[in-house]
Amino acid sequence: MRKKLVAGNWKMFFTPPAAKKFAEEMKTKLDTPDVDAVLCVPYVSLQTVKDALAGSNVKVGAQNVHYMDEGAYTGEISCEMLASMGVPYVIIGHSERRERFGETDTTVNLKTLKALKHGIIPIICVGESQRQRRENRTANVLRKQIAFALDEISPKAMKNVVIAYEPIWAIGTGEVATLEQAEEACALIRKQIEERMGSEAAEDTRILYGGSVTPENAKALFAMPNIDGGLVGGASVKPSFEQVVRCE
Ligand code: 13P
Repeated sequence: MRKKLVAGNWKMFFTPPAAKKFAEEMKTKLDTPDVDAVLCVPYVSLQTVKDALAGSNVKVGAQNVHYMDEGAYTGEISCEMLASMGVPYVIIGHSERRERFGETDTTVNLKTLKALKHGIIPIICVGESQRQRRENRTANVLRKQIAFALDEISPKAMKNVVIAYEPIWAIGTGEVATLEQAEEACALIRKQIEERMGSEAAEDTRILYGGSVTPENAKALFAMPNIDGGLVGGASVKPSFEQVVRCE
């Protein structure tokens, strides 16, 4: 049985003091034995939020990482740095980073391999654009993104890999995928993992849905057989994130 995972992606919201306050207020509310709750916060708030969450099972995560160990990469952060802080999760290949910051399928793979090497759980984002869906290319797009992302990753490692299916047209738009669309895409991803790595790896992998998840639609989405939780943007910086995490 896969344990549900609900990760909040704060994106570029909350100053460190505001992050501290929110994390302190939410930590017991988000702490539930049934669900792994994660707050993926801006780098500058990682330590603050980690400290604020101490004593609870809620974990902190980063929103990006570089794939090199060290070097002249101004403004970047390495997996070793995150690991040394005790950051257990990192989002990799979010569509905002793919679209606006030149992230590619290749860098997603390099980052994933490096995160796993440092014992950090990658939350790998995949998903099609509105146009790709309209042109019936969703399956092909997902297939390519997954094939690249998981290149050279062993079946055994998949229990420490999280995939987030985030259709780009559903991110921040209020237009959530239907249960059927979300389930179909997540099932397809699981099938592909099975074909590549076998059924055990496919059963081990947690696959999340992301895109306009709210307290109103979370429960039904997360109850679908191939959806193991969510990656949540806007609704994760509000107190009602509690209802999303608890699937109430
Ligand atoms: P929203 O939940 O705001 O649509 O954002 C989804 C997302 O991008 C999570 O990574």
